[in-house]
Amino acid sequence: MNAPDKVISDAPKAIFLKDYTAPRYLIDTVDLHFDLHDDYARITSRLSIHSNHEHSQQNQPLILQGERLKLIAVKLNDQLLTAGQYQLNEDSLTILDVPAGFTLEIVTEVKPQENKALEGLYKSGGHFCTQCEAEGFRKITYFLDRPDVMARYTTTIVADKKYPQLLSNGNLVEQGELEDGRHWAKWVDPFKKPSYLFALVAGDLAHLHDTFITRSGRSVSLRIYVEQHNLDKTAHAMHSLKQSMRWDEDTFGLEYDLDIYMIVAVDDFNMGAMENKGLNLFNSKYVLAKPETATDADFDGIESVIGHEYFHNWTGNRVTCRDWFQLSLKEGLTVFRDQEFSADMSSRAVKRINDVRSLRTVQFPEDGGPMAHAVRPDSYIEIGNFYTSTIYNKGAEVIRMMHTLLGKAGFRRGMDLYFERHDGQAVTTDDFVKAMEDANQRDLTQFRRWYTQAGTPEISAAGVYDAATQSYTLTLTQSCPATPGQPHKEPFHLPIAMGLLDAQGADMPLQLEGEDAATGTTRVLELRDAAQTFRFINVAQPPLPSLLRGFSAPVKLHAHTSRTELAFLLGHDSDAFNRWEAGQRLAGEIILGLVAAYRDGQAMTLDDSFVQAIAKALHSKLDPAVVAQLLTLPSELYLAEAMTTVDVEGIHLAREFVRKTLAQRLKADFEQAYRANSVPGTYRFDAQNVARRSLKNLALSYLMTLNEPAARALCMQQFNSADNMTDSIAALAALSNQDCTERALALAAFYDKWRHDPLVLDKWFGLQAMSQLPGTLAEVQALVQHPAFEIKNPNKVYSLIGAYTRSNPIRFHDISGAGYAFLADQVLHIDTFNPSVAARMLGALSRWRKFDATRQALMQAQLQRIIAQPGLSKDAYEVVSKSLA
Ligand code: TRP
Ligand code: ZN
Repeated sequence: MNAPDKVISDAPKAIFLKDYTAPRYLIDTVDLHFDLHDDYARITSRLSIHSNHEHSQQNQPLILQGERLKLIAVKLNDQLLTAGQYQLNEDSLTILDVPAGFTLEIVTEVKPQENKALEGLYKSGGHFCTQCEAEGFRKITYFLDRPDVMARYTTTIVADKKYPQLLSNGNLVEQGELEDGRHWAKWVDPFKKPSYLFALVAGDLAHLHDTFITRSGRSVSLRIYVEQHNLDKTAHAMHSLKQSMRWDEDTFGLEYDLDIYMIVAVDDFNMGAMENKGLNLFNSKYVLAKPETATDADFDGIESVIGHEYFHNWTGNRVTCRDWFQLSLKEGLTVFRDQEFSADMSSRAVKRINDVRSLRTVQFPEDGGPMAHAVRPDSYIEIGNFYTSTIYNKGAEVIRMMHTLLGKAGFRRGMDLYFERHDGQAVTTDDFVKAMEDANQRDLTQFRRWYTQAGTPEISAAGVYDAATQSYTLTLTQSCPATPGQPHKEPFHLPIAMGLLDAQGADMPLQLEGEDAATGTTRVLELRDAAQTFRFINVAQPPLPSLLRGFSAPVKLHAHTSRTELAFLLGHDSDAFNRWEAGQRLAGEIILGLVAAYRDGQAMTLDDSFVQAIAKALHSKLDPAVVAQLLTLPSELYLAEAMTTVDVEGIHLAREFVRKTLAQRLKADFEQAYRANSVPGTYRFDAQNVARRSLKNLALSYLMTLNEPAARALCMQQFNSADNMTDSIAALAALSNQDCTERALALAAFYDKWRHDPLVLDKWFGLQAMSQLPGTLAEVQALVQHPAFEIKNPNKVYSLIGAYTRSNPIRFHDISGAGYAFLADQVLHIDTFNPSVAARMLGALSRWRKFDATRQALMQAQLQRIIAQPGLSKDAYEVVSKSLA
């Protein structure tokens, strides 16, 4: 592609891991003074700096990062520097001549009220707050803004008393009053930390208070700060926090280390939450919940994000990342920890199913597209673009595989050694793997390829039973497709958990050739070669293999399993995950078969054996939460992944056909399931009630596909009488997908009831954006103009524009291209004030090569239009340029 010269020379530059060098200077202490005003903030930063002897030569200039700052003054050892003694440019401040040790005082000014990028110091809902990860601290003051520079921070905040709460990291040591209605507070954080963990809040906030006694007997004050009117929505977050603290003590022996732990809910936030030391900032979506306003899924989400940020205190804060290429060191590990926590709090099988579902619908496409990158990437243009599902979720899978290979006790030994070696340090993913190796005397050299090679490995399995020798030979082969910059891959080291079922569906004891006796019924095979054979002996009858139990590795598995065998596994596998998996594969094959039929102009028909398999699952004695999962058909996004060229209409029509046919044939069964799982009495958030609601509402959604008056009446009745948001939203979602008079009535009633609750309105926007009805784009376009929609609020953007473009394939990929043009319009606008959110939205266009020629051209045209935009952010530039490459 030929671009004008100027664009090439101006194109943002990539940063490479191979160029990493240790910092030339280190900072021991940081003394910050914030003077907050309504129209500006003045920040005075006093740094004690010394040269990092091993890594610097005499008199090397000191280069500090800083962006969008107004520099007021710089003093070196209390001497004001004159213009010739430093250099200032767009993103740095260079002090030309510095001694080996010195203090530097820098005064800057910023305008928090104008900051809509939500990085650095900004205002949300009238409160001051900060977001410094990854590179936001440089938008507050000039600094060595890199995670391997760890310092002790003291923070003084001065503000008007209309901001009663003045909060920062660590412990409050002093506070006082000033004249003219102002006051101040001084915080000291005793732990060394990188700048990305700095935080400050000043606002008029109420808080819920509790205490936690650690296992060594220390008392920790727990506080959740929210706006006064939200105080009644903080109990679940507090409960989740205490559970997290207990769980980390019990599971990993990790105790909290400060006397106070604060969480502040913020309405305008780019991501989920942020683990700043002692002062977590949360998107209010992950704090606020009461049964009337939050769904069961919201309650779960809060539990896992509260856990996630709390667990970062050890995996991220006490031991942090050397550089941003190591991001998965803290994120992959912390996601693994929050997944295990959630699994222990409720249904392990359902948690695993949901995690794998999101891995497959988000991470696998990322790994197969133009933005594919390794868990430890080699380069980036904008680090904000690398807070990806690969870093987080595939990173967690990599940790999980080590857990599987080393066992629970071995993994714990590795964690203990990791903290023993690296507490207080900034380290690499390699240091983590090394601790796992050394604690277990294991060689993980080959395993490390998971960190450096991108792409989703493909595994093929073929088994042969030999009756004469009573043996079963399983051959596994692996390969991995090319990804950008990585044409060829070396074999991975992967754990394949498996079992063998007999004709009754019972697990058979497993004995590999060369072993004295059978041990266990689930075994972990270690696949290391491109092709490898495993021979089981004393196999009394032809077995049916159950492979990749619990999804023991993040791969695509190909095995020749007939539909009859899949139905058998769905009915019998002792591994709940693999039951679900068999059902998904069966449904997937059937739907994709129907897509082919549709394309050939044939009528769609549904095999009765599938209907019977579903009926059997519905009537099984399994946990209703698992049953609901078994009955959920693979999503359109997941099915699209399985096609070389996505058939947008075919997938939608075939999947809807199957849903409707199941509803017709099993109508009485679904009605019965609906009644049997209706929970009388008031709402409770516990495993049993959540499970029953999930199955009841799944039954309702099937019944509603028929769009019959009786189903609609049932739906309206549930909508009108629900005492909780789970049931209310389930009914409204079902209605919003049907063309009926009840739809508009219910949507209007819901809006009227919740017009003053922004988080509930996000759901209302989201449901309309995800409606399968043909008029959806027009509705979404109208909703962007709705008075309750705020383009500067990321939650609103994600719930309306994000839901439409990422979760509504049939309407987003409209053959007119109007969906693509709409997204480009929105992104170009959002990019002018919040590049991070704009870049996130662009993911929906990056896999244009998966589509037919017409759609390819339309998507490409919008990408071209975006990249031609003068002043495009480097965030958006990176996504678009890589997508077009
Ligand atoms: N470290 C945060 C987490 O995973 C992620 C995060 C929150 C973040 N806000 C951010 C990353 C803003 C980049 C920019 O818990
Ligand atoms: Zn995290």
